[in-house]
Amino acid sequence: METIKKNKFPIVSIVAVSKDFIIGDGNKMLWHLPNDLKRLKSITFGNPLIMGRKTFDSIGKPLPGRANIILTNKKNLKDDIQLEKFFVQSFEDAVIKANNWIIKKFKKNEHSAKRIFIFGGGEIYKLALSFCSQIELTMVDINLKNGVTFPSIDENEWGKKILKKVEGNDSYPSHSFWLYNRRVIRL
Ligand SMILES: NC(=O)c1ccc[n+]([C@@H]2O[C@H](COP(=O)([O-])OP(=O)(O)OC[C@H]3O[C@@H](n4cnc5c(N)ncnc54)[C@H](OP(=O)(O)O)[C@@H]3O)[C@@H](O)[C@H]2O)c1
Repeated sequence: METIKKNKFPIVSIVAVSKDFIIGDGNKMLWHLPNDLKRLKSITFGNPLIMGRKTFDSIGKPLPGRANIILTNKKNLKDDIQLEKFFVQSFEDAVIKANNWIIKKFKKNEHSAKRIFIFGGGEIYKLALSFCSQIELTMVDINLKNGVTFPSIDENEWGKKILKKVEGNDSYPSHSFWLYNRRVIRL
């Protein structure tokens, strides 16, 4: 597992949270932000996604143009190479699959732009956050008390900057896009 911290490709969580860091109700997301979905697609397109089986089931189909690497303990689920849907049984295998997918699919000069995205949900963010060097975070300006949560972000370990703020309207709440970078600790 330690080698994952020095992985060839950066590992990045991508998530939308409420003010209380709630991400969903266990089955689905709790808001619909067309803006955020467009942004999610443009950031992740051409990169591998690592997600939990529950998140995959809630999306319902593999997302095109990306490797869909799904963590599960179930042993009978079948890959679909055409649709780039792959099942793995450990986080380590998920990262290996993501690395190999990039190396096989893209030329060497394209590798520097590639990132491996942690796509949720709660269990997988918890498993993966210590291996992430960045978090692409959408903060949705709503209060929710109950639900699946994103793990707490220690502000001593992370620097954050706001990228954009979007005012809400009748169809969706205000939200903002943030980039968190893990601070480099010099000994
Ligand atoms: N707001 C956001 O940005 C965002 C993003 C993604 C998801 N979500 C929300 O998050 C919620 C789902 O999150 P969740 O925590 O309930 O589930 P999850 O993390 O999506 O999936 C959990 C499943 O992953 C598998 N798994 C977990 N750890 C594993 C390990 N170490 N090895 C092998 N398999 C492992 C297990 O699958 P098996 O049961 O098959 O063994 C487990 O049941 C939904 O409400 C969804 O809408 C929100």
